Amino acid sequence: MGPKVWEIVDDYFSNLLMSTDPVLTAALQDSDVAGLPQHHVAPNQGKLLHLLVQIQGARRILEIGTLGGYSTIWLARALPADGYMVTLEANLNYAEVARKNLARANLMDRVDLRVGNALVGHLV
Ligand SMILES: C[S@@+](CC[C@H](N)C(=O)[O-])C[C@H]1O[C@@H](n2cnc3c(N)ncnc32)[C@H](O)[C@@H]1O
Repeated sequence: MGPKVWEIVDDYFSNLLMSTDPVLTAALQDSDVAGLPQHHVAPNQGKLLHLLVQIQGARRILEIGTLGGYSTIWLARALPADGYMVTLEANLNYAEVARKNLARANLMDRVDLRVGNALVGHLV
């Protein structure tokens, strides 16, 4: 199965099962405008991450690789009111885009975005 078929299948399920979300759409648009690579999870994968957090009843999340914050938004929105998430991004430019996207999503109160290499002793 070639990559195009994966995209078509992803689009099919996303269009069938999901409503549009202006905050998530804007996060992807602004990431594109800023020249970030399109390496974010697909919308249906984001929703799966969201469901897994809820099913697990997670109150703490560690994400390695924020990019523009698209998956971070999906994950953080699934946390309870007292939940908390740390997300790590090595690239300062990507992290700045993510910070704006997370602020627009009103999630900075529960997301700690740290810039640096995700190795012990390398984070700021
Ligand atoms: C596949 S992208 C993340 C996609 C994002 N989770 C999403 O779905 O929206 C991987 C990200 O990990 C970052 N990264 C790679 N190695 C890293 C490391 N050792 N520490 C922190 N970030 C890293 C890259 O800069 C890139 O932004």
